[in-house]
Amino acid sequence: MAVRPVLKMGEPLLRQVAVAVQRFDAQLTELVADMNDTMRALSGAGLAAPQIGVSLRVVIFEVTSNPRYPDVAPIPYTVLVNPELTSLGDELEEGWEGCLSVPGLRGLVPRLRKLRYRGFDIEGKPIDRTVEGFHARVVQHEVDHLDGILYPQRMRDLRNFGFEEALVGRMTPMPE
Ligand code: NI
Repeated sequence: MAVRPVLKMGEPLLRQVAVAVQRFDAQLTELVADMNDTMRALSGAGLAAPQIGVSLRVVIFEVTSNPRYPDVAPIPYTVLVNPELTSLGDELEEGWEGCLSVPGLRGLVPRLRKLRYRGFDIEGKPIDRTVEGFHARVVQHEVDHLDGILYPQRMRDLRNFGFEEALVGRMTPMPE
């Protein structure tokens, strides 16, 4: 287990489409342990394998209740392998996002309000959840990483993009 360096926007690997996991083996366990250590060390809400330089379709996320983010409902720690998203309705919601690969910045991003996600946990057991709001946002953000997409590419108006400390007062604080 180790905290690994997080690749930053501009690194070519972050623009690649990641490859599906074929085996739920010790190598996957080790990868997820490193992702978990890295996410926690940087107080992130989620992390995708490409962010630590591994182009595989694995994401993790977790949001614990935090007085800094009173509007954000907790999300249980989830390892999601080979995820598939299905939209439930076409309602979009704008919300502020950050990313450990785009440190210090925040942007207002439209996302599907409600969706179903399927995939597998670290042992290969199926996961099937219907979620909305911030949980749906986090999943869309992380799965975008697997398709080589960073949140600024999803923004409609770059005037709503800036450094966290400069956006204080305008922005609803959100975990990265
Ligand atoms: Ni991110």
